[in-house]
Amino acid sequence: MAGKFSPIDSDWWKMTRLWLGIESSCDDTACAILEEREDSIKILSNCLYSQIDEHKAWGGVVPELASRAHLEKIIPVLEQALENAKVNIKEINQIAFTACPGLMGSLLVGANFAQGLAKDLNIECHGINHLEGHIYAAFLHAAKGNHGELPLLITLIVSGGHTELVLVNNFEYVSIGKTRDDAAGEAFDKSGKVLGLGYPAGVEISRLAKNGNPHFFEFPRALNDNSFEFSFSGLKTAVLRYVQTNGEEFVKEHISDICASLQEAIADILSLKTVNAAKKNKVENIVLCGGVSANYRLRELMNERSQKEGINLICPEPSLCTDNGAMIAAAAIFRKRAGVLTQNNEVKAWSNLW
Ligand code: KG4
Ligand code: ZN
Repeated sequence: MAGKFSPIDSDWWKMTRLWLGIESSCDDTACAILEEREDSIKILSNCLYSQIDEHKAWGGVVPELASRAHLEKIIPVLEQALENAKVNIKEINQIAFTACPGLMGSLLVGANFAQGLAKDLNIECHGINHLEGHIYAAFLHAAKGNHGELPLLITLIVSGGHTELVLVNNFEYVSIGKTRDDAAGEAFDKSGKVLGLGYPAGVEISRLAKNGNPHFFEFPRALNDNSFEFSFSGLKTAVLRYVQTNGEEFVKEHISDICASLQEAIADILSLKTVNAAKKNKVENIVLCGGVSANYRLRELMNERSQKEGINLICPEPSLCTDNGAMIAAAAIFRKRAGVLTQNNEVKAWSNLW
């Protein structure tokens, strides 16, 4: 860290500052207001409009519908965030928005809105990588005296769009393995569809799994080897075959056991490879983040396995695991403190952070 960054003048972060975080990379329109002080970062409001109902009928996110919904909802969501935080728009000091990765149309709505607003208020505006936002959501509680530096860590970013292991060394990112096909969140959602559950199915599967036997059926753990790659597309095919073989009545009768077994297969392989990656890279900290990191069984297994190896596990609180505006503001705050926040507002569908 020393010499690598030039942390900004400490007067900067000794002042109280209000940040607006805007997230619109996929199907959630989100705005949050954060109050930054030297020794704390407080979430004053974290509002979100979920477009799930718009996309439900199609069984997945329809990009054109998503950008239209962002356009309709971004102002009401911001108004709600300001009202909940009891803040006037003119009091906002800094704006951060998701610049990549994501659906182009969805990103552009948030980016244009953020930049227009910043211009009007004559304040700074910063484009943030969504995945970095997921990571920094895990450090919101650790703001005291933190200049943005993180311990050397391995992060598992696990969501509807990503499943990737990344070695993080203070704003330097090295990907060490990712999924070859579906993300783990997709495995939950697509398998849920086959099981006749709603969309997205992750939360419902984990709710049903609580009353089930995780070893009722051993669903396959693909690429169960020494690599750090994942593969989940075979899992949804295995679930489909299971339903075809046993029939819908049987599935209905044993839905909790099937959900618990499916969840176990996903949580098992994710936690095994993450802890192995930390061991191999001699890293003492793991950050588990992204929407699927809200899953209780994944957190449990990750906790058990990392404790056994003497590795420290850091997770965002469950409400901050899925997409939200607070995580975008959090990444910007820590970057600003470390002196590595640029006002690069280029919007890109793909990430080139690592
Ligand atoms: O991070 P996120 O909100 O959006 C993306 O960037 O993709 O993640 C959404 C994903 C969905 O696939 C959803 O089913 C999954 O996270 N998810 C869960 C849970 N909560 C959300 N999966 C399993 N268990 C959960 N509790
Ligand atoms: Zn996400």
